[in-house]
Amino acid sequence: MRETQETIFADIPELRSVERTDKHSIKSFVLRGTRLKSFQVEAVRAYYHDYVIPYDGKPLDFKMVFGNDNPTIIEIGFGMGVATHLIARERTQYNYLGIEVFLSGFTKLLDKVGKEGLSNVRLMRFDAVEVLNQMIGDNTVAGFHIFFPDPWPKKRQHKRRLIQAPFATLLAQKLTKGGYIYAVTDWLEYAQQMLEVFDEVEDLVNPHGGFAPPVPWRPETRFEQKGKDKEHTISEVWVQRR
Ligand SMILES: C[S@@+](CC[C@H](N)C(=O)[O-])C[C@H]1O[C@@H](n2cnc3c(N)ncnc32)[C@H](O)[C@@H]1O
Repeated sequence: MRETQETIFADIPELRSVERTDKHSIKSFVLRGTRLKSFQVEAVRAYYHDYVIPYDGKPLDFKMVFGNDNPTIIEIGFGMGVATHLIARERTQYNYLGIEVFLSGFTKLLDKVGKEGLSNVRLMRFDAVEVLNQMIGDNTVAGFHIFFPDPWPKKRQHKRRLIQAPFATLLAQKLTKGGYIYAVTDWLEYAQQMLEVFDEVEDLVNPHGGFAPPVPWRPETRFEQKGKDKEHTISEVWVQRR
């Protein structure tokens, strides 16, 4: 029988939707129906079990997941996974856990990492806020990458922004000492909000005082390209756990 999106969804029901168990947390994303292409269906069939961690609300043991003691970086909202893929391929001294709800991007990255057999990447398709709350231990994460989070530009939408005080505190709690949060946006007013929000978290320090210079290993992402096309300034925020 030929695999289709329907047969794949029947085999792996958790792929069909993203359930939110905590209705009080920020809803920072909107999901639209996705028609997967055949290479994406094939990627799920071939690589899901090796690369994807299903959400089960139980604490993750990175050593068990990756089979090593390397520090683990979590990327939140990887989109098409362009940066995730290139960074993981170059910087193999780290493990990468990518979290994304957008099924098309998720299966695209699954295809890339599976085909290349990258052993330092795992993916989750779930709400990152819930994953952090339920499955990630305190003081266990070496860094967070949050590249071009949805800016929710209208004032009435600001409450949907990911980087707000409670989430910043949660990120800090999950970091190891010296661990970092690296957030980049093309939305200046959100970038300023990030600086302010991180500044309020007791355990975080900003070694640059304000915006950071770009790091040489961060590749351009799809949303960065879109921002540059609109002549938006790219702002980088880098803070560390004390
Ligand atoms: C504006 S896109 C940026 C994608 C990519 N990082 C880039 O730079 O091209 C933001 C992404 O974050 C994802 N996202 C938003 N909130 C999320 C959450 N709570 N958990 C997981 N992914 C989330 C969205 O699905 C979307 O793909």
